[in-house]
Amino acid sequence: MKPLFISIEGLEGAGKTTQAAVLMNWLTERGVELVRTREPGGTPVAEAIRELVLATHEEEIDPIAELLLVFAARKQHVETLIKPSLAAGKWVLSDRFTDATYAYQGGGRMLAAELIQQLENTVLEGFQPDLTIWFDCDAEVGLSRASNRGALDRIEQEDMAFFNRCRDAYASRAEKQPQRFLRINANNDVDQVSRELIAALELHFA
Ligand code: TMP
Repeated sequence: MKPLFISIEGLEGAGKTTQAAVLMNWLTERGVELVRTREPGGTPVAEAIRELVLATHEEEIDPIAELLLVFAARKQHVETLIKPSLAAGKWVLSDRFTDATYAYQGGGRMLAAELIQQLENTVLEGFQPDLTIWFDCDAEVGLSRASNRGALDRIEQEDMAFFNRCRDAYASRAEKQPQRFLRINANNDVDQVSRELIAALELHFA
């Protein structure tokens, strides 16, 4: 089987980190050599952009400037880490990818999806995950989990309406590309989410 590029998506507090470990286990048990990475970030330069994007500044970051920053990080990540890993026969698992831009900058910041699509076409030329696992949880559930984890970053400080729009933007992406998305109900407790994830993987890779 050709190496796959898998992304995981969901709101803060959706349990991505915990479930990513379950997913990695499941894949490595099946002999997959896996590179684990994240966005924004994944390479030293892209991680520097991540810090800039997530830190709280006195100056407001313009939404389009934010959009360009996440795409700058992504281009660096794709060319420096993701494509070379796939070319070397390794699978890549990224915590977030372009769907997060449609969710946060499109849904959350209310930038036009067409603008994001134009950038995606120009910058990535059709490069997207082979499979996206979306941990779908309600904004209220996710945010209450995330706020128990300590200090909130610049984006986590947005209000509930922002995260509701992010969630709806994910739903609309998943609806448009059902063959690429696996939706997991992440409102449930951790063990139940893991069981649903494994069942979905078994079905998908059967
Ligand atoms: P996390 O990976 O620790 O959840 O934090 C990344 C944050 O960055 C999260 O709030 C979502 C946000 N983000 C965007 O706004 N746009 C993007 O394109 C990506 C990848 C992340």
